[in-house]
Amino acid sequence: MNTQPATQTIATMPPLRRPSRTQRPPERIVLTGFMGSGKSTVGPLLAAELGWTFIDLDTEIERRTGLTVPEIFATRGEEAFRREETAALVVALGRAHTVIALGGGAPETLANRLLLEQTPATAVVYLAAPFATLAERCSQQAADPTATARPNFADIAAAQARFDNRQPLYRRLAHLCVETETLTPADSVAAVISAVAAKASRA
Ligand code: S3P
Repeated sequence: MNTQPATQTIATMPPLRRPSRTQRPPERIVLTGFMGSGKSTVGPLLAAELGWTFIDLDTEIERRTGLTVPEIFATRGEEAFRREETAALVVALGRAHTVIALGGGAPETLANRLLLEQTPATAVVYLAAPFATLAERCSQQAADPTATARPNFADIAAAQARFDNRQPLYRRLAHLCVETETLTPADSVAAVISAVAAKASRA
């Protein structure tokens, strides 16, 4: 783990890309990646380390609708879920000093990709791992009665197809990629912070 206080590291960061009059240091870090990639585990730890707020987009959708994610899928369908996801993302991206964990399917929606690309001072970080690792983590989490079920992981072959389709989107959308297969959540936090800082210092 980085021994320097992370709050200082981010606060002194230059903008993500080449400085211009409109660019500012990162004010939001958005975690993206497939189901089981650790977004909802790493996100709160990262926010705590930075002294920032954490928003889990699925939790926001559940709060806004009063329904769980599986209930939305079952009663309204995936398209309705995706509309709620975009609405929640618009609000989340209005917050500064915030870590946002996306749902695994959020980058499939063009509006979400445009929002992420066009919101200034927003670092998008892809938490990557091989499908076998993600599948193993998701099946372990499915055995936990307190964990939210994942409708899009019910069928493993369909999940693998979604993974294959989404990989290029995750990679294109992200400013940074952290390979998490062998990392603990704390290691992933340190890797995200140093990758964002390194990227910012190259801008
Ligand atoms: C989904 C991922 C889930 C949640 C919903 C759909 C997907 O989020 O948004 O079940 O299509 O990949 P996590 O990636 O946090 O599991």
